[in-house]
Amino acid sequence: MLRQLLLPPVLLFIALGVPSNAQSEAPATGAAGAAGAGSAASVGDVALELTYYDVGRAFSFNCTIPRTADAGGFVWRKNGTVVSEVWDLNERYKLEEGGAVFRLSGRSAEDDFGNYTCALGGAAPAQGWELRGRPYAKLPANTNVVEGQKLKLVCRVVGKPYPEVKWTVANSSEEGNATDVTLALGARAVLARSEQGVAGAELVLEAAQRADAGVYSCVAADGLAATTLRVKDMYAALWPFLGICAEVFVLCAIILVYEKRRTKPELDDSDTDNHEQ
Ligand SMILES: *[C@@H]1O[C@H](CO)[C@@H](O)[C@H](O)[C@H]1NC(C)=O
Ligand SMILES: *[C@@H]1O[C@H](CO)[C@@H](O)[C@H](O)[C@H]1NC(C)=O
Ligand SMILES: *[C@@H]1O[C@H](CO)[C@@H](O)[C@H](O)[C@H]1NC(C)=O
Ligand SMILES: *[C@@H]1O[C@H](CO)[C@@H](O)[C@H](O)[C@H]1NC(C)=O
Ligand SMILES: *[C@@H]1O[C@H](CO)[C@@H](O)[C@H](O)[C@H]1NC(C)=O
Repeated sequence: MLRQLLLPPVLLFIALGVPSNAQSEAPATGAAGAAGAGSAASVGDVALELTYYDVGRAFSFNCTIPRTADAGGFVWRKNGTVVSEVWDLNERYKLEEGGAVFRLSGRSAEDDFGNYTCALGGAAPAQGWELRGRPYAKLPANTNVVEGQKLKLVCRVVGKPYPEVKWTVANSSEEGNATDVTLALGARAVLARSEQGVAGAELVLEAAQRADAGVYSCVAADGLAATTLRVKDMYAALWPFLGICAEVFVLCAIILVYEKRRTKPELDDSDTDNHEQ
């Protein structure tokens, strides 16, 4: 009885196990082949040309190594893996001019950064590019905080690998002279890694002060974004409220006085004895 119940799951387990073994073997041999042909040392032999691309735009590389008759075709690799085996490049690139030009067609993604090399046939890579996304930063144009409240500015960065973000602050009154935020605010400015994983991209002030107002910029390599910070008076929010309270109070007082005046003659009639005592 128990065996009969257990048997189907066991069979299922075996059935699932067989194809999963087969699947994991295929890339393993493929990776071994790639590692054999273009081992890490050979990438070290070829100087990689630092190249930037705009995330969202197309990019291409032109392999200019001289092609000899018996050398075989061009072999392109990303991070050491032959591009046809790189899963997230699947159907997103074209090889042109007999394979000499690698062109990423359509929109590029942040994760397209990496090391690209070209080689002839089974030879070691002979030319390579270290491709990085050109970083740009994003901040809201304006930020408001109430004096004494916690301020948190988060700089969003596009373009991998992410550079470390630096912050500067300029007094709105004397624009242009931006000071490093750690110099301007000292230990009050706490810089942390953002949720996105960018070092220094989060700026936190536990309690904002009136003097903190200004133009804050986050600088991610060549990318820069700025936000204008306004620090509101702690009582700024309170004044309208107090105004309404005062208004209500005055209204109540007027109504009370009016009601008293209106009811006084009646009271005089009924409570004449009390009143006179
Ligand atoms: C690639 O380089 C070759 C030789 O330098 C040149 O003839 C060809 O036009 C280039 N192709 C592209 C797409 O830049
Ligand atoms: C290349 O390296 C980068 C950074 O390590 C990684 O994010 C990316 O996925 C790698 N690409 C491939 C195809 O291995
Ligand atoms: C690309 O190559 C350089 C130098 O060999 C290395 O420092 C870097 O980590 C590599 N990048 C990726 C994404 O593998
Ligand atoms: C701003 O910078 C300029 C030139 O660097 C300097 O002459 C000027 O005194 C600075 N202003 C302030 C308020 O620091
Ligand atoms: C702006 O300037 C004033 C006076 O020069 C200074 O006290 C204040 O710290 C500055 N604020 C910032 C954010 O640099």
